[in-house]
Amino acid sequence: MGMSVENFHPEKPKPKRYLPEVRTIIESDIYLRWGIEALRDISDEEATLRHTQRMANCGYLLAKHLAKDRGYAQEDIELFVEACLLHDIGKIEVPPKHLTKLHDEFGPEDLAEVSKHAYQGYEILRHDKRSPRVFYPVLLHHEFQERSYPDTDASMLKLMEDMEDVDIDNARLLAMLDVFDRLAFGSPPENPPIQIERVVAKLKMQFKSEEDAEIIDFLYGQYEKIKELS
Ligand SMILES: [Fe+2]
Ligand SMILES: [Fe+2]
Repeated sequence: MGMSVENFHPEKPKPKRYLPEVRTIIESDIYLRWGIEALRDISDEEATLRHTQRMANCGYLLAKHLAKDRGYAQEDIELFVEACLLHDIGKIEVPPKHLTKLHDEFGPEDLAEVSKHAYQGYEILRHDKRSPRVFYPVLLHHEFQERSYPDTDASMLKLMEDMEDVDIDNARLLAMLDVFDRLAFGSPPENPPIQIERVVAKLKMQFKSEEDAEIIDFLYGQYEKIKELS
């Protein structure tokens, strides 16, 4: 890993494009500021950075919305925001040539490399002694998506035995936010954003429970706010 938190010395915090509450969380923890700068360094014209900024804002609003029903304390909300911010941190280990290819050129080798980012993110966060509340959801964030990666193998299932239900629930929320963001705001270099009503329909086909539907409606309600911030 080129950039590590040990040799990271920010001049001063400059987190823009975040809700004030999210900014407070970021400013309270140098590790998050390191993560943001590391994401900025990925050679994808800041697409991953922007994606994680929106997800942190949206994730904060969602966690706050669910807090009463699910009994989340402020710390749980902060850990969920951290998972949103750093869910794609494993991409700092992916060679840049695999991150910028267009669909036509994107082959099995690229897929194999990009697919590793969830596991690599988990390894980074675990190595840096972040909370399991963060690194387990990061590890699983593609497992609950339609286009999940073919790596739910025996070792992954073994790891899942150590997780608590809340980690698996949060991984699912992270997956919903991830799909929502990529559809609503697009995923460069090619997939442009699609109309928000179609985003909602697509999400509801993928996440089907009654509670999922409520969450998706909530995200729909936050769309303009997230868009304004980005
Ligand atoms: Fe991802
Ligand atoms: Fe993502």
